Amino acid sequence: TKKVLSGIQPSGSLTLGNYIGAIKNFVKLQKEYECYFMVVDLHAITVAQDPAALRENSESVAALYLAAGIDPSIAHVYMQSHVPQHAELGWILTTLTAMGELERMTQFKDKSAGKESVGAGLFVYPSLMAADILVYNADLVPVGEDQKQHLELTRDLAGRFNHRFGEFFTIPEPYIPEVGARIMSLDDGTKKMSKSDPNPGSRINLLDPPDVIRKKISRATTDSGREVVFDQAGKPEISNLMSIYAECSGMSLQQIADQYEGQMYGGFKKELAEVVVALLEPIQQRYQDIRSSGMLSNILAQGAENARMNAARTLEGVKERMGFLPAR
Ligand code: AMP
Ligand code: TRP
Repeated sequence: TKKVLSGIQPSGSLTLGNYIGAIKNFVKLQKEYECYFMVVDLHAITVAQDPAALRENSESVAALYLAAGIDPSIAHVYMQSHVPQHAELGWILTTLTAMGELERMTQFKDKSAGKESVGAGLFVYPSLMAADILVYNADLVPVGEDQKQHLELTRDLAGRFNHRFGEFFTIPEPYIPEVGARIMSLDDGTKKMSKSDPNPGSRINLLDPPDVIRKKISRATTDSGREVVFDQAGKPEISNLMSIYAECSGMSLQQIADQYEGQMYGGFKKELAEVVVALLEPIQQRYQDIRSSGMLSNILAQGAENARMNAARTLEGVKERMGFLPAR
């Protein structure tokens, strides 16, 4: 069976963008494929994290995976740092990566822009991400649009290794949704909705209470027109709200345009808020149950054990091909 891998950083509260762009597809893919869903804590520390916050966010992301419907009896759910082979293969792949390739990464350019000191981890971040994927020979990587460039580098690195040391790694494919791959900020339709945006009103957190969700959506920026029609270039904000509506309700953009034809933004936004609340309330309920049950640490231990076994096998093959002496 084909393998799927993805990860989310425990660097803040997860947003509706993370759900629509990533987690929703994790849940869909787990029935058909062997799945690895990590909390990528080693990636999170590429920007400074407060230890208590990192601990809390790590548990929170893992619990949200389960609350959103990832089933740990069929998917491997674990912490990246519990599988040392990620960091080990990450180092090896860093030695195969060119500085110029890393300098071209838009995420690095965005995150380092205007900083007077930039951590080296932020720079080599994509080699570690490539290791995450290649260490299990994953076939498919469900991510949002912003990760496409990192996936391209992963494919290049896999090909480069195969070319130098013989066919070994599977070349992974990105799995990017058609609608919802880039959910935009609620206060600016040209910016991505992000965990780290300084304005909390710009995003919906998966754990926001219903009234907060209603308030944020009612205050979301819209253009001065009145028609609920999908027009990415001309009406980015209303188009974004329509994408959110579609992804949370299962309706198509056309069905939504038909339903709201001739109506004003106010009514549309009110009903959108109810669609989002209806999606998130049961997830929040399960989240609370999971956090209070104490079941998480067992699940993470089990997931990491399976993952380590598979990753260790790949590392052995990599080291053998590269000429490392065996350790016995
Ligand atoms: P991150 O929050 O950077 O760890 O991203 C975790 C996953 O969520 C990645 O697959 C991202 O591409 C995806 N993601 C993050 N923000 C958004 C967004 N605004 N719209 C769609 N997908 C997103
Ligand atoms: N870089 C990804 C992000 O910021 C997170 C990530 C780390 C990831 N390793 C991965 C995603 C492997 C997919 C596969 O969103």
